[in-house]
Amino acid sequence: MKTVGVAILGLGVVGSGTYKILRDHREFYRRTQNIDLSVESVLEINRQRALDLGIEESKISDNIAEVISNPNVDIVVEVIGGVEPAKSFVLAALHSGKSVVTSNKELFCKYWHELEAAAKRTNAGLYFEASCVGGVPIIRTLLDGMQANVVTNLTGIINGTTNYILTRMAREGAEYASVLKDAQALGYAEKNPTADVEGYDAAYKLSILASLAFHTKVPLDKVYREGITDISSEDIKYGDELGYALKLLAIGKNDGNNSIEVRVHPAFIRKSHPLAAVNDSFNAVFLRGDSVGDIMLYGRGAGDLPTGSAIVSDVIYAATHSDVKYATFKNTQTAEKGVRFVTDFKSRYYIRFTARDKAGVLAKVAGIFAKYNISIIDLIQKGEDIENIPIILITHETSELSLRRAVEKIRELDDVFEVNSVIRVEG
Ligand code: HSE
Repeated sequence: MKTVGVAILGLGVVGSGTYKILRDHREFYRRTQNIDLSVESVLEINRQRALDLGIEESKISDNIAEVISNPNVDIVVEVIGGVEPAKSFVLAALHSGKSVVTSNKELFCKYWHELEAAAKRTNAGLYFEASCVGGVPIIRTLLDGMQANVVTNLTGIINGTTNYILTRMAREGAEYASVLKDAQALGYAEKNPTADVEGYDAAYKLSILASLAFHTKVPLDKVYREGITDISSEDIKYGDELGYALKLLAIGKNDGNNSIEVRVHPAFIRKSHPLAAVNDSFNAVFLRGDSVGDIMLYGRGAGDLPTGSAIVSDVIYAATHSDVKYATFKNTQTAEKGVRFVTDFKSRYYIRFTARDKAGVLAKVAGIFAKYNISIIDLIQKGEDIENIPIILITHETSELSLRRAVEKIRELDDVFEVNSVIRVEG
C-alpha cells in the first residue's frame, strides 16, 4: 500500500476539520482507496491548538521551509486564506515539486495563472475544490461531470453568510443591520463582514467557476458586483407578495458566441425556481448544459468538516492520480482574445418608489418607461397615505442602461419623492 504524506498549512477552522477527517478516516481510506494518508507536518504558530487536536509535537512547525523540505511530505494543503503569505508558501511547495491542495479562493482567482505555470514546471498537482462552495463538489462537476456540455448558464447562491442574513430578514421581517449583528454574535458572519456582505467572496468564486464553465479565463475585474447592505425588509416582503424570494445571486451566462456575462448582486427569483428554496447558510449552484439540461448541486458552502471534505477529496485525488490535469483553457491573466464581457446586460427589474397619490403621476411614470421602450408587467400601489404612497412595479426584460436612464427621469418628477429601490429579477 502506498503511503502519502500530507502537510497542513494553518489549523484554523478548515485546517482543523481537514486534520480530523484525515485522522478519523485513515483506516477507511486504507481500505477503500488503497492508500495510507499520513499527516506528516503542520504549520501552526499556536502549538497548543495543534496539540489539542492530538498532533505529535515533532510534527508541529512554525517554519515553512522546514515543512516543505520534509521528505515525508508529498502533498501540501494550504488553508491559510488571503494572498500573502499563502501565495509564497504555495509557490514554494510547487517549486519543490509537491502537489498543492488549497481552499483559497482569493489567491486562486487572482493568481491562478501564476500558480498553474509554477505547477506545470515541476509537474505538480494543483487542486482547488474547496475554494468554491465549500463541501459542494462543483469544481469536479465542471471539470469531469459536465465536460460533454456547452455550459450556457451558471447561477448560484455561493455565499452562506449573505444567504443566512437574507433568509432571516425574510422570515422575521427584520432589518439588515440587526440581523447582521445577530449573525456576528452567532458566528455566522465575520467581525469584519465586508468580503461576504459586499459580494467580494461570491465574486472570487464566480470568477473561478465561470472560467471553468466557459473554458476561458474570467478575470475578477470582469465580474460586476453589488452586495446586500442596502436591502430592506420592506422589499423582501413586497417581493414575497409578488411571488419572489430575494437572494444574492452569482450569475454567469455564455451565449456560445464568445459573449460572457458575469455578475454578483441581490436579485428576486421566482419562488418556483429551485434556488428560491435554498435557505439559511446553505449554498447551491444551478447549471444549464446543452446536452444534460438543468442540474443543481446543493449543500454546505462553509464549515470545518464540509470544507475539509472537499480538501480531503482533492488530497485523495492527488494521491491516486499521477496524470495531473490543469485548467482546460489557456490560463493567462486576462481572457482569451475575442471574448467579450457584456456590461449592458438584460434583466427584468423590481422598482419601488414613493409618490404623491394624485391623478397623472402614474401616467408620467408610464410615459418615461415608454420613452425608453420598457414594458411593465406588474404594478401595485400600497397604503392610503396620499402624501406618501409606495408604488411597486416589475418590468419586462430590458437593458440595464435603459433602466438606469428611466429611473433617473422618474427621480426628477415633482410628485415622486424618492426611488427607494431597484432590484433585478432573474429566472
Ligand atoms: N465566507 C463564505 C460564506 C464561506 O459565507 O459562504 C467561505 O467561502
